[in-house]
Amino acid sequence: MPNGLQDQVAIVTGAGRGIGQAIAERFAAEGAAVLAADLDSAAAGAVVAGIMQAGGRAAAHRADVRLEAQVAAMFDAAEQAFGPVDVVVNNAGIGGAAALDDQTVQAWDDMFAVNVRGVFLGVKHAARRMRPRGRGVVVNLASAAGKVGRPYMTCYVAAKHAVVGITRAAALELAPHGVRVVALCPGIVDTRLWREDLNPDLTELEQRRGETAWDARVAGIPMGRHQLPADVANAAFLLASADASYVTGISLSVDGGMVLH
Ligand SMILES: NC(=O)c1ccc[n+]([C@@H]2O[C@H](COP(=O)([O-])OP(=O)(O)OC[C@H]3O[C@@H](n4cnc5c(N)ncnc54)[C@H](O)[C@@H]3O)[C@@H](O)[C@H]2O)c1
Repeated sequence: MPNGLQDQVAIVTGAGRGIGQAIAERFAAEGAAVLAADLDSAAAGAVVAGIMQAGGRAAAHRADVRLEAQVAAMFDAAEQAFGPVDVVVNNAGIGGAAALDDQTVQAWDDMFAVNVRGVFLGVKHAARRMRPRGRGVVVNLASAAGKVGRPYMTCYVAAKHAVVGITRAAALELAPHGVRVVALCPGIVDTRLWREDLNPDLTELEQRRGETAWDARVAGIPMGRHQLPADVANAAFLLASADASYVTGISLSVDGGMVLH
């Protein structure tokens, strides 16, 4: 019976589907009590029902990570349901692709509100509660696009580089207080964000014939297959667990060898 997070309390944002769902399920299977937070409360509720059916502890919570009051309320809800929070996974995020000429300021601001402000607020409110306790782990979802450039993805690339920066700065500030801050950099993961949001737009922007942007990316992965949400959840568990107790500030590639730094 896995129990690497036994008696710990975790928050996972964007837990209603995709990578966040896989992390919530894995953490619960490892013995954590999980607050599954999402803008889509029905989706979060369905994930929680599955966790409880499997014998885990979880509660669903509606939160929009763009809004500070809702991020603070999310921490309150986790504390009230389960006790002080040990692990926070700032996973909620959105994708988007556009040619530079057509990139709108509105789309830029919307993406930064979720992918950057949302992570900043999660880190800020984790710091407020974890620093006084002298313990805690924050896992931020960056991306391979947080380390390298990608055509037609200037906004997403900039946002994910910002997540890597937030992770580094917060890790240094909180290291003396026993709080670790790390990031994960997945590559091409089979979720709605890639398959349904990015793939049609990128395929058109790259003027591909006979193959999709997804197919082209996957063909270039050294390990020869795309990633599954569970691959990312494995790495999230690894970094959240006590076995990583001397690891902070890193942005770990989880991409089958695409980006080797
Ligand atoms: N899919 C990939 O290939 C990939 C690669 C690298 C990084 N990532 C990152 O992993 C994270 C999860 O991506 P995914 O592929 O599982 O996406 P997804 O679209 O499948 O799921 C995202 C979840 O976040 C929720 N969400 C969106 N905006 C929110 C908000 N403002 N507040 C609260 N919840 C919100 C959605 O309702 C959804 O449940 C994102 O940060 C993404 O950028 C994904």
